[in-house]
Amino acid sequence: MSRVTLSRYLIEQTRCNNTPADLRFLIEVVARACKEISHAVSKGALGGVLGSMETENVQGEVQKKLDVISNEILLEANEWGGHLAGMASEEMDNAYQIPGKYPKGAYLLVFDPLDGSSNIDVNVSVGTIFSVLRCPDRNGNDGDLGEEAFLQPGTEQVAAGYAIYGPQTMLMLTLGDGVKGFTLDRELGSFVMTHDNIRIPEKTAEFAINMSNQRHWEAPVSRYVDELLAGKSGPLGKDYNMRWVAAMVADVHRILTRGGLFMYPRDSREPEKPGKLRLMYEANPMSFIVEQAGGAATNGSQRILDIQPTSLHQRVAVFLGSKEEVERVTAYHQE
Ligand code: F6P
Repeated sequence: MSRVTLSRYLIEQTRCNNTPADLRFLIEVVARACKEISHAVSKGALGGVLGSMETENVQGEVQKKLDVISNEILLEANEWGGHLAGMASEEMDNAYQIPGKYPKGAYLLVFDPLDGSSNIDVNVSVGTIFSVLRCPDRNGNDGDLGEEAFLQPGTEQVAAGYAIYGPQTMLMLTLGDGVKGFTLDRELGSFVMTHDNIRIPEKTAEFAINMSNQRHWEAPVSRYVDELLAGKSGPLGKDYNMRWVAAMVADVHRILTRGGLFMYPRDSREPEKPGKLRLMYEANPMSFIVEQAGGAATNGSQRILDIQPTSLHQRVAVFLGSKEEVERVTAYHQE
């Protein structure tokens, strides 16, 4: 049986769907970096990569060693190829400038180098999330790239994906024409397509939320989760199951595989911050993937992909997954 590697898939996309060659190169480079991160993650204590740094990121979160290693792998892999005008990452306060000795390209790469860091030291799945945007026309300005170049709604993404480092390393990718899944063949060192045309079932009986925040939720979320917990005898008339991996990559991966609803609502802990997850490098790429797989994604009041970002590290409430449940919890917010 002939195997479709990521390279072959991308070359065929260039041939048949006009995917630009520099976008193809960009995805290949990101995938190569993900292989390197997968390798570093899998070494664990043997590689001396577990534990924390003494630094905090822009969100005030303590950085794990692997957060920093993964960030450096992605920067180094992507800075020299001439396909990018700039990068931005969860782990860096400001936009990353392509060093002057390298050519600049048409795209912007935004990423969360290692999502779900609290899972690293306990040997549970983590992942890399990325989003690709076009760099707006800079009218000949060759100076430093400002944050404003990145502040584009999610509908402007030309590609998005994530790598999950779990029992298998997988890369899930959308170029805006459905979602494909590739599994890393460790003997060959290549990503091989194993999941064609991924579809999220419209209905589900599984939800994911951090229940320990219940007392801080807003009324529509409390009402909705009460109804889920009421099961068969409640207004929704069926029993629901709950899962929470505490790495968005892993929870979304389960939803792409068998359906479900993922929620990280805003709550009253920090009222000035709308939720915990970041719009540009968590919610937007995941919402693009989920919509391309037939699911839906909102912040409770609007489609996530339509939100106009106002800052690089902006937070957002997230409800994503099987359409029927996303629509229900969104409707409760609107009532
Ligand atoms: O990046 C934030 C993140 O680690 C997500 O991957 C995950 O869904 C969430 O935080 C877990 O949050 P909590 O610590 O509240 O379980």
